[in-house]
Amino acid sequence: MATVLAIETSCDETAVAIVKDRHVLSSVVSSQIASHQPYGGIVPEVASRQHVEIVNSAIAQALQEATLDWSGIDGIAATCTPGLLGALLVGLTTAKTLALLYQKPFIGVHHLEGHIYASYLAAADLQPPFLCLLVSGGHTSLIYVKDCGHYETLGQTRDDAAGEAFDKVARLMHLGYPGGPIIDRLAAQGNSKAFPLPEGQVSLATGGFHRYDSSFSGLKTAMLRLTQKLQQENQTLPIEDLAASFQATVAKALTKRAIACALDYGLDTIAVGGGVAANTGLRQHLQAAAQTHNLRVLFPPLQFCTDNAAMIACAAAEHLQRGHTSPLTLGAQSRMAIADVMQLYAHS
Ligand code: KG4
Ligand code: ZN
Repeated sequence: MATVLAIETSCDETAVAIVKDRHVLSSVVSSQIASHQPYGGIVPEVASRQHVEIVNSAIAQALQEATLDWSGIDGIAATCTPGLLGALLVGLTTAKTLALLYQKPFIGVHHLEGHIYASYLAAADLQPPFLCLLVSGGHTSLIYVKDCGHYETLGQTRDDAAGEAFDKVARLMHLGYPGGPIIDRLAAQGNSKAFPLPEGQVSLATGGFHRYDSSFSGLKTAMLRLTQKLQQENQTLPIEDLAASFQATVAKALTKRAIACALDYGLDTIAVGGGVAANTGLRQHLQAAAQTHNLRVLFPPLQFCTDNAAMIACAAAEHLQRGHTSPLTLGAQSRMAIADVMQLYAHS
């Protein structure tokens, strides 16, 4: 049983959590959304500066909420890749300094492995192999989870990530940032069949379409043309119907690929992770399709879909139990394939 304190600062959330194996003892998430909202997206330098200002008090709060002091912590972890370099460095440097100071093992964690581990926080009995549909602001992937640290990407987006598509479409409709939760709320009041939209298929050189890869740029362009056309006709934008039609198209595209992939690879469980896992439309579509095919589908609790440190601590606790620790020389990397995760523990 390992108790790990983890720090997550890869993007615009400053998060610290303490997890005992798969049980969350405390989880602090300080969102910077208000600071980035005026710009309609994340400003990396603003993100780094805010992480520096908040990280120490978030650590103190996490320890206090878990009623622990450093003697109760077995390891200290931080997200080290992928993400905004300056932002990653804040959490990583803080975690390595604390590990040195308190003589604790240090565990660097791949952010996407964290999103996979979010599913374990709600289903402690979950065991590989399973398929993870990872849908966040930066990634849209179908990942074959073979074991802790061992992953194979079977499908991905060829352009925009699913969350990015939500954010861009919300921006073109002047709805605000981040777009996912706003579109989700509006879609609940709209007619999802109001506007037929292209799903976005990836053609194969040999003919036909890729079964697992997705593409959202065509859908985004279709939404742009549609809103321009409605505006030119001086129509008030039916934003609820537009949001519902867009959301249903994304949900259907993701569901189709995830189900095909799970069936092809003989995997009976699909665990969903990342901010878009919070989406109501995706939850409904995937749940219904999985039931038809006798597959188990798991969604993390809403607070662990978007970025948080509990998922990072959960992944770190399992690595620590397997003797996987990282050297204090570990640096931040803006990109790293999830298949290369074990490089973070190469020395152990
Ligand atoms: O996983 P996450 O917090 O950060 C990344 O690692 O990227 O995901 C953030 C993304 C944003 O694009 C946001 O718009 C989207 O997740 N998102 C949603 C919902 N909540 C967050 N997208 C659709 N529906 C939601 N309810
Ligand atoms: Zn994320």
